[in-house]
Amino acid sequence: MDLSGKVAVVTGSGRGLGLAYAKALAAAGAAVVVNDVDPDAAAAAVEEIESAGGRAEAEAADVGTTRAATALVTRAVDAFGRLDVMVTNAGVLRDRMLWKMTDDDFDTVVRVHLRATFTCVRAAVRRMREQNEGGRIVVAGSPAGQRGNVGQTNYAAAKAGIAAMVRTWAMELARDRITANAVIPVAATAMTRTIPAFAPYVGALERHGTPLPDALRKGEGFGTPEDVAPLVAFLASDAAAGITGQCVGIGGDRLALWSHPKETAVAYADGGWSADAIAAAWPVSVGRAPEDCGIPAPSFAGESGEPGKSGEPAR
Ligand SMILES: NC(=O)c1ccc[n+]([C@@H]2O[C@H](COP(=O)([O-])OP(=O)(O)OC[C@H]3O[C@@H](n4cnc5c(N)ncnc54)[C@H](O)[C@@H]3O)[C@@H](O)[C@H]2O)c1
Repeated sequence: MDLSGKVAVVTGSGRGLGLAYAKALAAAGAAVVVNDVDPDAAAAAVEEIESAGGRAEAEAADVGTTRAATALVTRAVDAFGRLDVMVTNAGVLRDRMLWKMTDDDFDTVVRVHLRATFTCVRAAVRRMREQNEGGRIVVAGSPAGQRGNVGQTNYAAAKAGIAAMVRTWAMELARDRITANAVIPVAATAMTRTIPAFAPYVGALERHGTPLPDALRKGEGFGTPEDVAPLVAFLASDAAAGITGQCVGIGGDRLALWSHPKETAVAYADGGWSADAIAAAWPVSVGRAPEDCGIPAPSFAGESGEPGKSGEPAR
């Protein structure tokens, strides 16, 4: 994948998936602005990219504000002359059951995921439209946003909102040849490495380089950040010029296309529906096969022999 001449911003790329994205984009020839709220992590990422022969600049910022978004785009233009790819990846979790979730838990997650995606993409698109040479938007969704997840009111709402924005941007940005797609990743990072059934395998991989078993890589679609990063490089490339408005899943050995919500059953009542008519019709019409919710629990037993104990393979 040749991205030489292109300039990318990756938010939250000091570690985890973002770091793998920044490294993959740089290895393919793009110049990368590495953003993270942790300046040391951003600086270390730049050092790693440069020592591998890539081009990168650090821009430490807490994303979620217009000011931070503007700083990222300005840095790309000042350092490398243009902007072609915006990857919004920064993320935090504040998991709690609904009745314990504070306003701050909700607002923090919505700011770092949903608002940061909006502000960074808006700033990037303004620059891309000026350049008038197209562009690439790649955002971070999640299985939790696609399906809901226990303890994640804030996160599921933010990620579902991000998927909704991608579908909207695919239409709004088509004329400017700017594509917008969501990656729905699953990978061993700080967010996920503690899942009980997976933890011993993640530990063995990190300590000894022992490959994850097929039951994880294929069965659960669970792998490393480096397994996810090639999808971002692909979506950033000219080869993906015709792909937009999609939610693409990737993890381990698995690549998948997520469906968009659509009506699955419809019923009609002349003159409209009364509450009683809905109650009567529900079990035999639209309510006959209700949709299920949540991320399926892992079937992988792991060393603990307790399949699906956490019920949460992917944030
Ligand atoms: N790991 C998974 O399996 C998985 C699954 C689905 C979605 N995701 C999504 O992928 C993205 C990356 O997740 P990860 O697993 O690499 O997490 P991570 O915690 O390993 O890395 C997140 C990075 O974002 C940075 N960050 C946090 N808040 C920030 C802010 N306000 N401004 C700038 N940087 C900030 C952190 O410092 C960190 O370097 C997130 O959006 C996450 O929701 C991850």
